Amino acid sequence: MHTGSGTDGDGGGAGGALEAELERLQTVERFDPPPGFARRQPYAADVAAAAADPLAFWAGKARELLTWQKPFTRVLDDANPPFYKWFDDGELNVSANCLDRHVAAGLGGRVAYHWHGEEGERRAVTYSELLADTQRLANGLRSLGVVPGDVVGIYLPMIPEVAVAMLACARIGAVHNVVFGGFAPSAVRERMEVSDAKVLITVDGARRKGRTAAVKAGVDAELGDLPKLEHVVVVRSTGPVGGAETVMTAGRDVWYHELLAAADPLCPPVPLSAEHPLFILYSSGSTAKPKGILHTTGGYLLGATYTHRTVFDIDPETDVYWCSADVGWITGHSYIVYGPLSNAVTSVMYEGAPDYPDYDIWWRLIAEYKVTVFYTAPTAIRACIKWGARYPERHDLSSLRLLGSVGEPINPKAWLWYHQVIGGGRCPIVDTWWQTETGSILISPIPGVTSTKPGSATTPLPGISPALLSEDGEPVTEGTGVLVITSPWPSMLRTLYRDDERFVQTYFSRFGPRTYVVGDAARLDADGYFWIIGRIDDVINVSGHRLSTAEVESAIVAHEAVAEAAVVAQSDEDTGQAIVAFVTLRGELVGDDAMVSQLRDHVAHRIGKLARPRRIIWADDLPKTRSGKIMRRLLRDVAEGRELGDVTTLRDPAVMSALAAKVATAP
Ligand code: WTA
Repeated sequence: MHTGSGTDGDGGGAGGALEAELERLQTVERFDPPPGFARRQPYAADVAAAAADPLAFWAGKARELLTWQKPFTRVLDDANPPFYKWFDDGELNVSANCLDRHVAAGLGGRVAYHWHGEEGERRAVTYSELLADTQRLANGLRSLGVVPGDVVGIYLPMIPEVAVAMLACARIGAVHNVVFGGFAPSAVRERMEVSDAKVLITVDGARRKGRTAAVKAGVDAELGDLPKLEHVVVVRSTGPVGGAETVMTAGRDVWYHELLAAADPLCPPVPLSAEHPLFILYSSGSTAKPKGILHTTGGYLLGATYTHRTVFDIDPETDVYWCSADVGWITGHSYIVYGPLSNAVTSVMYEGAPDYPDYDIWWRLIAEYKVTVFYTAPTAIRACIKWGARYPERHDLSSLRLLGSVGEPINPKAWLWYHQVIGGGRCPIVDTWWQTETGSILISPIPGVTSTKPGSATTPLPGISPALLSEDGEPVTEGTGVLVITSPWPSMLRTLYRDDERFVQTYFSRFGPRTYVVGDAARLDADGYFWIIGRIDDVINVSGHRLSTAEVESAIVAHEAVAEAAVVAQSDEDTGQAIVAFVTLRGELVGDDAMVSQLRDHVAHRIGKLARPRRIIWADDLPKTRSGKIMRRLLRDVAEGRELGDVTTLRDPAVMSALAAKVATAP
């Protein structure tokens, strides 16, 4: 059988027919909304309202979708751009919007999360149960001395306690700082240190593909001397790891279940100003130092609630929604926790990997829980393509009515496969463009309304005003340019934590304080559709995970054998981009296989496995300008095997030919 698309032996006629159909679909330029798609959320009125008066539109949505303890009278305060304030004289509580109001409306028995463990364990957590645990943990955190404005770190795997932890913080006005479970303990330490976290909530151990790894012990090794960190709360998830009981430090550490058991069951939600900080999420930027992106209460919750409802066309009565992201990323914050809970929908939360115990686990879950809306990343879809259509084909996916994609541009081949194999050709795909900074989706098709073109995130949501600018700030109406947002929106970041200057510098220095510079380049076609091209800064996107070249470089040069390193992204069929490191070793040291694995382990230890370079290329010297700046553009050309661009500005042009020869022979 012809397997040109990389599917591994789908076997016989079905595979052949699929190949033929996918080939035919490649010639289809646009996909109109399927006629049978029954929209559940009204939409046309929003478009009209936002076009007529964006502030009135947002104010109306904020009143309709959120429950306020004190109504706001001001919508937007833009007196001091780019420090915008939304609804700032209003008061509300995010956890009350996600829990109490649903329970009060009689929905307490509704399942909030169908949690599924990687060994097949099942736990259905209702809205009432979530509320009960949230209140107890909120009181527990208070008993540990947490007061409004304090930072609480959260380093947990995909278990329901992660949502409880976030909501408990929100309930008492503490600011959570979630660290992705795939990051190394040293990255946790760094994030706790720079945010002055008072408490860290973590877990005894985490499971991954049948193995169990100690988490608390790893964290302990790094945290010891953080002066501001007063307590560590430990969720018992795996029990003893490798026979070793988790060591608890008296006076500092406390078991989560003991904290809950001892706590008062009632904790009324604290009314908070709409501009009270809700969370910090560290994300990668152009330098080695991660940026503490700060989101606040009212505007963020409005963005998450409105877009989740609109883009995924949610009907909380009937939909079963599943976002396969990790809660440690913004996608998990907005579309696993806050958006879905605020909308009172039932979600699936899955602890494990997509290929364990077998390649069909996702499709098995969709069939078992009758998932109607599924949201994942292009990199995952590409992995599924590789494994083959026979895995989804084993399961009944007919409950699905809508599919979403996020995190990186989706290549048309993956889009078509997703559409055909997972969506059965009947489910609209929403390719949602947004960022940690934007808080919620800004550009996306509306299912049942927008015609889609594979690879395009299509058009902005109501109330959002993206534009393309040329290098010198001229508007681009058709063609390629730098993506900007020209007016504020409620869920935008408010600043970088304790670094207003970097906030202004990073996002608002290029075209002034009213033009948010996204960091992506994009193309606008004749129909006004946006096509995101990718980052224009030194941010790398590996499997939809954001990393910075500088961050990886600084981890590599911290190794004693390394004199200098430069990191670039190389485009990659599976992961979108892959990390390539050019490394100069000290003195007479030799770059051999052992050194390659040492360096990769070293990076895994400093940042996390996701940051390990795919390739390490030993360089006697790196291409530098006369002023000593490394020319990464040339390194990218070399890594991707392109003709070299202009090398005349280099101090020593011969460096490049030596490197090119090396890369040609490197594995
Ligand atoms: C990229 C993830 C193309 C983009 C939600 C952005 C996308 C960065 C898309 C933000 C998409 C995200 N199409 N590119 N649909 N979604 N990106 O902060 O480069 O982890 O700037 O937020 O991911 O990554 P972040």
